[in-house]
Amino acid sequence: MVSESHSGPSVDVLVVGGGIIGLAVAWRARQRGLSVLLLERDRFGAGASSVAAGMLAPVTEVEFDQARRRTLDLGLRSAALWSAFAAELGELTGVGMGYRHAGTLMVARDADDARELERQLVFRESLGVKARRLLPSQARELEPALTPTVRLALEAADDHSVNPQQALGALASACERAGVLMEQHTGDVAVALDAAGDRVEGVRMANGSMRRAGQVVLATGAWGGMIAGLRDSASVPVRPVKGQILRLRDPAGPGLLTRAVRGRGVYIVPRDDGRYVLGATMEERGFELNATAGGVYELLRDAHELVPGVAEFHLEHVCVGLRPGTPDNAPLIGRSAHGGLIWACGHFRNGILLAPLTAELVSGVLTGQPVDPLLEVCDPARFGVNTPTGSESSGALLTGVAR
Ligand code: GLY
Repeated sequence: MVSESHSGPSVDVLVVGGGIIGLAVAWRARQRGLSVLLLERDRFGAGASSVAAGMLAPVTEVEFDQARRRTLDLGLRSAALWSAFAAELGELTGVGMGYRHAGTLMVARDADDARELERQLVFRESLGVKARRLLPSQARELEPALTPTVRLALEAADDHSVNPQQALGALASACERAGVLMEQHTGDVAVALDAAGDRVEGVRMANGSMRRAGQVVLATGAWGGMIAGLRDSASVPVRPVKGQILRLRDPAGPGLLTRAVRGRGVYIVPRDDGRYVLGATMEERGFELNATAGGVYELLRDAHELVPGVAEFHLEHVCVGLRPGTPDNAPLIGRSAHGGLIWACGHFRNGILLAPLTAELVSGVLTGQPVDPLLEVCDPARFGVNTPTGSESSGALLTGVAR
């Protein structure tokens, strides 16, 4: 419930960040009976969420190292939640999610790619995940638009996709219907702690006013490492990883590709209406957001080598987003060093995929449910920061979150 105090109304939970993670957390927390205020400094999805391609692809995204293997479990569990998540949102709001159950092909177009794909297949078999080896003729039977020179392919039949822009619209609508209080275009906010600097009391807005809350969730994406008001030992090592992505439309309508197709350096994700998302560069350039000729050229070159018909597409938009990377590229989900403060960021390449699971995990934390074992791999304290020292002061609260 929302209660009044001398310095303004207080809610049970304040969520900072209106991307897909913040919206999903706010909605689920409200469904569990908590009063929720969601603050977004810009507009919903203005960070990475509305730029994302929307691949729900734990099998094709898994990479060779221990930490990323562990995140496979997160991805598989969240992928399994997506169908019901999309159906529930669709029923509540009447907004479709563009959820496509078509699967994904990983495609090799030369001998080097084929050797790499064989290694990827062995790796996936060792993890016990489903990927089927396809001869070139089998791959082209499934996707006739693939280049005739395709050397080998793997099919990940359970790696699907959604349209993140539609998902954001549906989540915002579901939040509104559920009674989540929402403010967009707030500008930068800072965490506000109690006098001892231990426990969160809410956030301070850019104009100095307070929004009070029993608990605060930071769903601040690539800006997670720049939150003002925290002790140094409570901060987290999140960094932006730039991605350039192209939106194209086939003037002939839908149907050139059915599945998402991935090759070296590029992926092509079809939408229902003949549009395609083609991504994405991976660049360590801080918060720089320029689209570059080189980035666009390389994406189009690599996509054209996989699917020559791309040359006929109309180019509608070039978009740039910032993925929230962490040192091991697993997310940060769980309690912070400050009482009442919870992290839900650092989802790197998988924010859309991990939204339903993150919302479940965070609402479990908010309502004091037994700790889900999956939270171990996401522990915000695993990098040696975000641990209470008891010796530092809370510092100034008035500087803004630079986002
Ligand atoms: N999930 C794909 C990307 O981040 O480019």
